[in-house]
Amino acid sequence: MNTLTIRRPDDWHVHLRDGALLQAVAAATARQFARAIVMPNLRPPVTTTAAARAYRDRIVAAVHQDNQDSGSTAGAEFRPLMTAYLTETIDPADLELGHREGVFTAVKLYPAGATTNSDAGVRDLGAITPVLETLERIGMPLLIHGEVTDAEIDIFDREAVFIERVLAPLLQRHPGLKVVLEHITTSDATDFVRTGPANLAATITPHHLHINRNALFAGGLRPDLYCLPVAKRELHRLALRAAATSGSPKFFLGTDSAPHPREAKESACGCAGIYNAPYALESYAAVFEAENALDKLEAFASEHGPRFYGLPLNDGTVTLARRPTPVPERIAGLVPFHAGETLGWQLVT
Ligand code: NCD
Ligand code: ZN
Repeated sequence: MNTLTIRRPDDWHVHLRDGALLQAVAAATARQFARAIVMPNLRPPVTTTAAARAYRDRIVAAVHQDNQDSGSTAGAEFRPLMTAYLTETIDPADLELGHREGVFTAVKLYPAGATTNSDAGVRDLGAITPVLETLERIGMPLLIHGEVTDAEIDIFDREAVFIERVLAPLLQRHPGLKVVLEHITTSDATDFVRTGPANLAATITPHHLHINRNALFAGGLRPDLYCLPVAKRELHRLALRAAATSGSPKFFLGTDSAPHPREAKESACGCAGIYNAPYALESYAAVFEAENALDKLEAFASEHGPRFYGLPLNDGTVTLARRPTPVPERIAGLVPFHAGETLGWQLVT
């Protein structure tokens, strides 16, 4: 088999940033995906329907501008799906209105201090009970960065401890709430999601399928492989690969592509985030092929996500061709995931 044609996929977790960085990265996602769940952790964060509408317009304009500059029409139909950044003072009525008007698709919960631009996040889940009740009532998904922020908890245990201390009780308190545990990194998470209720699902990134924590220190410190949640031991990577390729509808594609400027990555206090958007499908295809599961890629990339969100599947297809695909060292000044490597598939349409 030298080509693989699948229904057009979506990215259920991406950081598109704003301003010049948005202009540099938006087209890469738009070329690969029909839709993407756009994370709201800008400065200031996207907390209102008005801000999300304006940000959505800037994303569409950036893709359009890129098409004009490059003379390409790839990605012209890209649809950003917007999220609200949950704070302790967010207005549930505005969220509900934004959802009804088709501006907000979901809400993102960042525990305060867990990751990039999360200072405005939630410290006390008890303070947002009315918001969670609203989400539960209107069927709007809650997307969760699942790490505790307690400095006493080992960084490699923060996801597992979050599941036990925060997520399990949250699901008990709100049994009807649709929850996506984002960018899972552990076998604790794959087990919890697989055996959990139907209203619980998870996204899995390409990088957590490819690397374990050794990669961060291979021959020296590798800032381009640092992200949050940080990569874990090999046994966890293998559990993620098994979950992604299992065919279970509870696991779907979310790249967590999170670009940072060079100087923010190569710094005494480097930012977390891996920029994987330009070769995301190629990266996933490498994993599914190695696991003898290319027949499961379409469901993971194009079906499980929309079904969980209650959105229509995309029309049309994309095709990957089996051919050596060198990944450049830099794209628009950013270091992409797999920089300098050669992947075995290439997105051709
Ligand atoms: C993300 C970012 O840079 O916005 N970073 C990351 O390492 N994944 C934030 C996040 O999703 O945690
Ligand atoms: Zn993210």
